[in-house]
Amino acid sequence: MSNSEKPGPIGIFDSGYGGLTVFKEIHKLLPCYDYIYLGDNARVPYGTRSFDTVYEYTKECVFKLFDLGCNLVILACNTASAKALRTIQQKDLPEGKKVLGVIRPTSEVVDRFTTTNKVGILATQGTVNSNSYVLEINNFHPQIQVFQHACPFWVPLVENNELESEGANYFVQQDLEQLLSASPDMDTILLACTHYPLLLPLIEKYTPKGIKVISQGSLVAESLADYLARHPEVEDKCSKSNSLQFFTTDDPEDFNNKAEIFFGKKIQSSFLKVQT
Ligand code: DGL
Repeated sequence: MSNSEKPGPIGIFDSGYGGLTVFKEIHKLLPCYDYIYLGDNARVPYGTRSFDTVYEYTKECVFKLFDLGCNLVILACNTASAKALRTIQQKDLPEGKKVLGVIRPTSEVVDRFTTTNKVGILATQGTVNSNSYVLEINNFHPQIQVFQHACPFWVPLVENNELESEGANYFVQQDLEQLLSASPDMDTILLACTHYPLLLPLIEKYTPKGIKVISQGSLVAESLADYLARHPEVEDKCSKSNSLQFFTTDDPEDFNNKAEIFFGKKIQSSFLKVQT
């Protein structure tokens, strides 16, 4: 049996810790599978980097996950989904391997939350510039008007565990005000960066009552469950012995300490080298 025919773990990739907020929900909903999480902590943030750099870094990490036996990889990172997914899917995928992102499954169901059809997107500069959410949401729900705002300080705040600091309060309040000033009728704010749910207590503190704040982890998990049910040929290649492995491209001890905040459980990670 070749590497791509043998069932293997589902790979979950993010530029750092953020993807753990999605992984947590996937594991909660689909605990029977084996999983490998890879965080590219050595090269985070991706959100401020060029298209080519995000593509090269993401491709390298996806191929590391393929080498570790994964047949299906989820890009649990909006920036990588916006800037690298399509090119990897079109140009790079070896036979029998699949890569999915988080933008499409989130955009598909955003109409569940809005009644005014005015939705705000908070994301990295890279995701905002790619316009991916505007295009995907318009494609599924042309009646919805999308307002985007980039929050370049939020990922560094989260990666450095500055979740309640004065700086975090300042930037969260300021960015929310800027987003909300775009439309008085906005009733839904989508956290379109997998790091942002960690700032949820602050985000809720500065969001006026009546506006829903949506994290995408559970939406992506539901969509993956649905995808696996509709694609038995992919599901058959996902091994099922309920194992979890974690890799980081930076210091594993540091990763273990911080990952617990994102994943909600103690974890043990190993180092995986990437080109720097
Ligand atoms: N967590 C990633 C996302 O969802 C981005 C973080 C970064 O800038 O690396 O966009």
